[in-house]
Formats: sequence, structure tokens, C-alpha cells
Amino acid sequence: MIETRANSKKLFIKTYGCQMNVYDSDRMMDALAPHGYETTLDMAQADLVLLNTCHIREKASEKVFSELGRLRELQDERRALGGDMMIGVAGCVAQAEGEEIARRAPVVDMVFGPQAYHRLPDMLARAEAQRHLHPSLKRAVVDTDFPEEDKFEHLPAAKKEVTIKRGLTAFLTVQEGCDKFCSFCVVPYTRGAEVSRPVAQVIAEARGLVEAGVKEITLLGQNVNAYHGVDDKGRTVGLGALAYLLAEIGGLERLRYTTSHPRDMDDALMAAHRDLDILMPYLHLPVQSGSDSILKAMNRRHTAAEYLDVIERIKTVRPDMALSGDFIVGFPGETDQDFEDTLKIIADVGYASAYSFKYSTRPGTPGATLGDQVAEEVKTERLHRLQELVNTQTTAFHQSCVGKTLPVLIERPGRQAGQVGGRSPYLQAVHLEGSAELIGAIHPVEIIGTSTNSLVGRLKAA
Ligand code: 5AD
Ligand code: SF4
Repeated sequence: MIETRANSKKLFIKTYGCQMNVYDSDRMMDALAPHGYETTLDMAQADLVLLNTCHIREKASEKVFSELGRLRELQDERRALGGDMMIGVAGCVAQAEGEEIARRAPVVDMVFGPQAYHRLPDMLARAEAQRHLHPSLKRAVVDTDFPEEDKFEHLPAAKKEVTIKRGLTAFLTVQEGCDKFCSFCVVPYTRGAEVSRPVAQVIAEARGLVEAGVKEITLLGQNVNAYHGVDDKGRTVGLGALAYLLAEIGGLERLRYTTSHPRDMDDALMAAHRDLDILMPYLHLPVQSGSDSILKAMNRRHTAAEYLDVIERIKTVRPDMALSGDFIVGFPGETDQDFEDTLKIIADVGYASAYSFKYSTRPGTPGATLGDQVAEEVKTERLHRLQELVNTQTTAFHQSCVGKTLPVLIERPGRQAGQVGGRSPYLQAVHLEGSAELIGAIHPVEIIGTSTNSLVGRLKAA
């Protein structure tokens, strides 16, 4: 039973961006729980609001400042009623623009980057100590250092209460940061150098999740397949070897990982896909562009042919592997022919799904200094064409499942009474007639049709 304390304070965290932020927000909740904070779903009721921000593209960054404007009004309302509201900005925008946020938005009490989450209770105490100072004397607590210590050792591991809320699937961060320095990307600056969590820590957290009822774990990392954790004997373990270790946890039924870089799809990981049933046949493997000259300018350090070769190798070990990717259109210097090459690689691979973005200049990245920017209308037109192609592929992929029987992890009641919903191995949403008793296990489901972005199934007698 979850205890409710009469004098507890209310916490609201708004999460933007990637799954790693989702994981981090949960760890922040865990870190604050022992200090009397419990989460609320109503921002207006919160004593503490944290924005866990994303800096990957310009639009994502801008959202922070508009949200802070809204929060200022909420804070005024609460003060008018004799209450208060503390406001913190976390995540990658905080890391990149720490002091700037404090200057631009005096409403903010704390600004802290992803490497500082274990120091949150301490920062909060320092911010609270200033609460009754005259506004002209208040200073936001800013912590954007990359500390020497391992933040994961100081943060509570993913635990039960969080798991219950999230259900049968959970994220587990195994690796953070990136050393690849793609020329468009802020991640190496906001999340820092690549760091892998030790094997024992990962296994312990995974065991805890499974004991709490989780059936499917998605391992997270900005460069998850570059994982190189240390085991108890001091040996380095890659993602492939880690997958074998996790597969030994009884009760864990599905394992996924994201996001991967083509250069790090090594033989050990391929072997794991060949050998391990729990490793799902769905791989998010961004290529960004199909043009070798753009790939070079992006500093991806592989060619289109090398990417296709990785796909071929993975399909040799797992012929049913479904692929997903990320694409950027309008990188500086991208010609019509470069873009056609991107459409060609998409046609060659055949994606189950894909994310695509217009190039957005990020201050501080090498891409920001390049000339030959692509006009906005050209980016819009290219994005449109690319998305049309991908949509056709996604529909074709869904259609190709009709008539097959897929193992579906039934996760929740359906939208209508008498229905349940779950996920296929390929991460597709599946709806079917069935009672709530099916929830919590993997059942064979015959796919009988498709609807927008999902599959319709029928339970098959086992
Ligand atoms: N502009 C547009 N898209 C970007 N991405 C990363 N940086 C940028 C940028 N500056 C996209 C890439 C990456 C995904 C997470 O976001 O496709 O894989
Ligand atoms: Fe960014 Fe490239 Fe690292 Fe991915 S691999 S996080 S795109 S720098």
C-alpha cells in the first residue's frame, strides 16, 4: 500500500524529449520521496515543479521558456492564496544554458543538469533557504558540473512504486553520454562523455524490476550499443554479453535497447540476437541520411553501403528483424541528389517505422558553423516526401502481419469494454477482445486486421 502523509509536499515533473529523460524523471521522484515529496498530476497544486528539458532541436528548447511563463502565473496565484511554488529546470537545456536560464527567468529557483540529479535534495535545501529573502537577493541554485562520482551509485535504483505506476514495461539506463560527436548533435555536450554503468548495478536493477512484476525491459543509452560496463572481475562487458546475462533473470520475458549507432553493431550483439529469444526482433538504428557526402559532413563515420551491410548481417541472424530509424532533412549542403539518396536508402531498407526531422542548428555544434544552409521551404518539402514514403512502409509492415500469429504482451484494458491492448514483438500496439485476466502475460494473438497505427487481433487458443 502506498502511504499518504498528511504533511507531504507535492511534486510535479514535466518531462520533455527522449526516454532517458523519462527514466531520469522517475529517479528524481525516487530521490525526493524520502524528503516528503509525493507526485501530483495537477501542476497547479504542486509545491515543487521540475521541468526535465530537451535540447536536441530548437523547438524542444523553446518550450522551456514558454512553460516558465505559464508557471510564473501559477506561482503568483499560489502566492496570492498564501502558498508558494518552487521551480526547477533540469535536463539538457539546463545543462547547456544554466546561467542563461537563471538570468532570463528569475522565477526559477534551481537549474541543474543530468549529472547532478543525485544532489537534488541538497540543491532543494539550498534553494529553500532563500525562500524568505527579498527577491533582489535571491539567486537560483545552478549545478551544471560533470562530477567525478558515479551519479547512479547515489541515485535510488528503479523501484517498486514507480514500477507499479508504469506497469509491465520499464526503462533501465545502462549508458549515458556520447563520444561520437555527430556534427549536428548537442548530446556529447549536454550529456557528456560516454559512461557505462557497472554490470552488477545493471543486473541488480533489472532483478528488482522483474521482482516487482516487470516483464519487458528497455535498456537505454544515447549510444546504448557502445555499452562497455565493468564486471566484478574487472573485465569489460559489451551490450551483447550483457544481454546474455540479463536473459538469465527468470521472469524477464522481453528485452529491448535503444538508441544504437551502426558502427557499434558488433558480432557479440549479432550473436545475442541469434541466440536469445528475449531479445526482441526490433531495432532502432538511425542512419540520418543516405548520402555519403552528407554522412561525412555529419561525421557519422560510416557510408550508406556500410549501414546496409549492418542491416544485412542482422537480417542474416534474425530474418524477422524489423527496423526503425531517424532521418534529418536539410543538413547544410544537402542537394536534391543527396536527398534522393536518402529516399533510396529508405526504399532499400524498408522501415517498420521512422522518425524524421528538419535540421535545426544547435549552438556550439560544428554544424552551426557550416554555410550553405538549406531553405526552410525546401526542408518542409523534403520532410513531407520522406514521411510519405515512411508512412507507406509502416502501413505495408502492419499489413504484412495480418494472418500471422504474434506473441503479444497484454498490458492494459482496451479503449472499449471487453477489450485489452498490448504490444507485438515489433512494438506495434495490438487491440483485441478479451478479459482483464489476460493482462500481465504474453499470449498468442492472430492478427486479423489493421487500423491507424495499430493492429487488430484475436486471441488464439494456446
Ligand atoms: N537537428 C535535427 N535533428 C536532430 N537530431 C539530433 N540533432 C538534431 C538536429 N540538430 C535527431 C537525430 C537523432 C534524433 C534523436 O534527433 O535524427 O537521431
Ligand atoms: Fe548525437 Fe551522434 Fe551521439 Fe547519437 S551518436 S547522441 S546523434 S552525437
